[in-house]
Amino acid sequence: MRRPRSVRTMVAISATIALSTGMAVAVATSASAASTLGAAAAESGRYFGAATNSFMLNRQPHATVLNREFNSIVAENEMKWYHTEPNQNQFNFTAGDQLIAHARARGMTVRGHTLVWHAQQPQWAQNMSGSALRNAMINHINRVAGHWRGQIHSWDVVNEAFADGGSGGRRDSNLQRTGNDWIEVAFRTARAADPNAKLCYNDYNTDGINAKSTAIYNMVRDFKARGVPIDCVGLQSHLGTSLDPTYQQNIQRFADLGVDVQITELDIQQGGNQANMYGQVTRACLAVARCTGITVWGVLDPDSWRTGANPLLFDGNGNKKPAYDAVLNALNAGGNPPPPTTAPPATTPPPSGGGCSATVSMNSWNGGFVATVRVTAGSSSINGWRVRLNVPSGASVTGAWNADRSGNTGAVDFTNVSYNGQVGAGQSTEFGFQASGNGSIPTPSCTAG
Ligand code: XIL
Repeated sequence: MRRPRSVRTMVAISATIALSTGMAVAVATSASAASTLGAAAAESGRYFGAATNSFMLNRQPHATVLNREFNSIVAENEMKWYHTEPNQNQFNFTAGDQLIAHARARGMTVRGHTLVWHAQQPQWAQNMSGSALRNAMINHINRVAGHWRGQIHSWDVVNEAFADGGSGGRRDSNLQRTGNDWIEVAFRTARAADPNAKLCYNDYNTDGINAKSTAIYNMVRDFKARGVPIDCVGLQSHLGTSLDPTYQQNIQRFADLGVDVQITELDIQQGGNQANMYGQVTRACLAVARCTGITVWGVLDPDSWRTGANPLLFDGNGNKKPAYDAVLNALNAGGNPPPPTTAPPATTPPPSGGGCSATVSMNSWNGGFVATVRVTAGSSSINGWRVRLNVPSGASVTGAWNADRSGNTGAVDFTNVSYNGQVGAGQSTEFGFQASGNGSIPTPSCTAG
């Protein structure tokens, strides 16, 4: 559904004509143009976000600019593994909670960055390998995504798993050495832990059609074909002084696979063509309906991790740079609106009588598996459920989420927890567990009440 051509669009068209004839036109001063990045992006249903840190939320001029301009935030570091689980099974959510509270109080959405990554792991995870690391990863995702369940717009489930250069292969890492399926296990685990978050794969050097972005493209296509849950691809877009001419085409080809695209960590070297490039990136995103938002990797130039590059939209005093005007004008010129949020996945048909039913799907590797169990209410709503399933002989449940469990081998009972016992007629809820061992699970039984 396209919005009718607005006054703003007309202004933008006349601005283009004026610019091409050498006249100066201030598009952003038009009566209908939004005056902040967030508001301008929202006009086409998008967000415009920035990376920040909890300790910067009261630091000026960072805070004033952050709160005025952006309608989305992401933790630059404070939701990474080393920060959220500094010692195994000991979690620290304080900084992330602060960022989320700040955002919620201001109607901003939150990107989650990042559940699993080869870099910035806590020391204890860096020292791990094999199934111990695999299980630690699954536990990490369950606990972190579970803690912030329902509060994260999009999670970077896996960050930077592909190799640079022309190989088109995976990057070597302790995670990769646990088996090639570690990425899909991470995505399935994240889906069960926070079913409403969009699940993204995020990477850099993917800002055009090249061997690395093509390898990621092939993975996404394979995930879509096999039903591995993935909703979006993040293009970090840490850029130098020129933009790959296939930047927009690359966004489009991912969108055509049926995933959203998000520009997740945009920053562009100053000293080249910074303002023009910021405008080009913004226009490329706006041109693709499924490119749903842009995040810049910091607010003020001195905040940036790229010391000396001055790659952001505001200087150290909080003044708007030419790059800011280029972005705002591009946003105000409008774009293809993103499609409405896709309908939730089809639920299993409800049983004809009352009560409930349960189905199980498994994701296995040699020596372990993750099971996702879907509980569906029958023709009446239920208030509490218990699922009994038979764990294959030799296998043992090591952890569960979104359910309480009794026992870990043989016939194991899972019961609802406080927030998921009530299920409307024909509606579903999911829980999951991980186990060591092999084998398959026959259809479980479900008892309501
Ligand atoms: C960077 C942060 O900006 C730095 O503060 C930190 O020291 C290292 O990480 N790709 C990513 C981001 O996905 O998490 C990185 O952030 C930048 C590159």
